Amino acid sequence: MMTPEYSKFGEQLCKGSGIEELMYDLGNALTTAGPDVKMLGGGQPAHIPEVDALWRKRMEEIMADGQCFENMVGNYDPPQGNPHFITALAKMLRENFGWDVTEKNIAITSGGQTAFFFLFNSLAGRMGDGSRKKILLPLVPEYIGYANQSVGEDFFKAVKPIIEEVGDSQFKYRVDFDALEITDDIAAICVSRPTNPTGNVLTDNEMKRLADLAKQHDIPFIIDNAYGAPFPNIFFSDANPMWDEQVILTLSLSKIGLPGTRTGIVVANEAVASAVASMSAIIGLSNNNIGQTMMTPLVENGDILKLSNNIVKPYYVEKTKQAQGWVKEYFDESVPYRYHVSEGALFLWLWFKDMPVSSKVLYTKLKEREVLIVSGHYFFFGLDEEWSHTDECIRVTYTMPEEKVRGGIEIIAEVVKEIYTSVN
Ligand SMILES: Cc1ncc(COP(=O)(O)O)c(C=O)c1O
Repeated sequence: MMTPEYSKFGEQLCKGSGIEELMYDLGNALTTAGPDVKMLGGGQPAHIPEVDALWRKRMEEIMADGQCFENMVGNYDPPQGNPHFITALAKMLRENFGWDVTEKNIAITSGGQTAFFFLFNSLAGRMGDGSRKKILLPLVPEYIGYANQSVGEDFFKAVKPIIEEVGDSQFKYRVDFDALEITDDIAAICVSRPTNPTGNVLTDNEMKRLADLAKQHDIPFIIDNAYGAPFPNIFFSDANPMWDEQVILTLSLSKIGLPGTRTGIVVANEAVASAVASMSAIIGLSNNNIGQTMMTPLVENGDILKLSNNIVKPYYVEKTKQAQGWVKEYFDESVPYRYHVSEGALFLWLWFKDMPVSSKVLYTKLKEREVLIVSGHYFFFGLDEEWSHTDECIRVTYTMPEEKVRGGIEIIAEVVKEIYTSVN
């Protein structure tokens, strides 16, 4: 078989990645895997019955409503996104948060993932004058999906966090501001909040300090709000969302329950929003309009907020409590385990101090037992120093049905215990 010679772009994007491995594990587990597989690996949101029922109802309304269905599947939207959806969203953001946002501050993309590809590659990498710019991740571990997005050389610079041990079995990562240096080659600062993979929520104070640094250096502060407010609002701690002209905030319809519609949202100053729309036109002409059509009336009448606050958030609060309960039930003192405080998102982040094998080996051992998790090492990209901690963590998603999560955590505890006891 002929293998083409790849360009720099091809070298970076055609040869696989951690996120591809993860999405194959996830997609295959959801479509073709046997009944015993425990898929605790992807960022798949739960199928919450009330939420699924609402999507079905919306589709029925769309089918019943004159030309709505034909327009949805038969028309191209403008590259910036569906004008009705954008108007409704701008109004909601103004009314709920008091942000000075109009239609011109919003651009839709084909999922949040695509928004990051656009933003990172347009801000960082090789510049017109030959210099190279980078994206600063003030705290890793950070979202695996960013890691391979550069179309040229790698462009992440990451900073090790401070680890604060909490009680007997938990910990929290905090931004190490003393180690944070904004040099001239930094194009933007980026954080996910709540953070994938850890469930961390950077405090309002940390966010203010990062925003101040961005302002001082006149660079964008990118906040990935895939799990945040106002929707899906999978925030368990007291934290306030933020936006101003310096901030590029991304949202998504995925985690409220519509990942199949591939709808991402960028809220930014007018120049950045317009640049995102330009990239959408060149790369995809326009975006998928199904999610936007389904959501528009729910944004207009505020139901999306009720759904997020009264159904989605409490559902995950319960899920994380259960998962933490099972961790405490199945692990014992023979394993020096800790898990990150769960302040949002869909994951538990487990840390096994001085584990005798790497988390990648643990992933393989668990896969043999039909439990799929994600090895933590993928989330530490952009660090330029060795750090044993990067091989000691795993990410466990708790959105699958109860028996899968419980059974999966039980097997993880067994396998990890075997690993520690086999060397003692
Ligand atoms: C932190 C974070 N950002 C962005 C995304 C991208 O999601 P989507 O492209 O489905 O909007 C994800 C998906 O898991 C995520 O966890």
